[in-house]
Amino acid sequence: MLRTVVATRYITPLREGGSLPGLVEGDDLGTYVLKFTGAGQGRKTLVAEVVCGELARRLGLRVPRLAAVDVDPVLGLGEPDEQVQELLRASGGVNLGMDFLSGALGYDPLAFPVDAEEAGRIVWFDALVNNVDRSWRNPNLLRWRGALWLIDHGATMIWHHNWPGAEDSAARPYDASDHVLAPFEPDVGAAAARLAPLVTEELLAEVTAEIPDAWLTGEPGFEHPDDLRRAYARPLLARAAVIHERVHGIQGHREAK
Ligand SMILES: Nc1ncnc2c1ncn2[C@@H]1O[C@H](COP(=O)(O)OP(=O)(O)O)[C@@H](O)[C@H]1O
Ligand SMILES: [Mg+2]
Repeated sequence: MLRTVVATRYITPLREGGSLPGLVEGDDLGTYVLKFTGAGQGRKTLVAEVVCGELARRLGLRVPRLAAVDVDPVLGLGEPDEQVQELLRASGGVNLGMDFLSGALGYDPLAFPVDAEEAGRIVWFDALVNNVDRSWRNPNLLRWRGALWLIDHGATMIWHHNWPGAEDSAARPYDASDHVLAPFEPDVGAAAARLAPLVTEELLAEVTAEIPDAWLTGEPGFEHPDDLRRAYARPLLARAAVIHERVHGIQGHREAK
């Protein structure tokens, strides 16, 4: 499981995010961006953040360190903002934290070109997890200390909203035409050759073991959290082998028919 931190203080809301993420201080004195289980998007979004974040990290992409952050709803009692009070009240227990990259800038493709190799790795990864949230309107990439960092993997793995149809849905192609890195001639083939062999059953077991049990209980059709962990792993394993042939919308990239 992810390392656990106890939230000691709510600092401020991060107004940019649709999911009302906030900054909190932990009992380790770290500052975390917190995504709350009580936010409208629900806990599947947080599961997706863990699976994708921990997988991306193991594939050598930069992702802020994640933590399971324990929230006591009393933290919200002194908050002047009613929306924040409500959110904290609804989020007792385990929430998702990530290291706050202080001073990070939102990624701007016009100001910071990326080479075809790095663009390829990121587009391939987004295709693997079917990330629909890395567009030029909303890149969910940060520039920090001269490098690109991946954030916000809540809108991925659409198949986890309908497990009986997961296999079919996971076989679908990925449309990269809106991807913020599409203009940089991403070398998806080279990325697949390097990264796909790393996506093994063992690696995915390690990744899904990081998901807190509390977010996996009560899913219809799954008796034990580990059954659901395996359900998360299966489509990713299958997709890793083939998805590079099913990435559409990138100039110069040969598309499989
Ligand atoms: N780890 C982080 N370090 C610094 N800023 C962050 C971090 N995570 C998110 N942010 C900032 O907060 C905003 C919202 O976070 P994001 O994860 O995209 O949430 P949402 O799901 O609400 O879009 C980001 O666009 C970014 O500006
Ligand atoms: Mg976002």
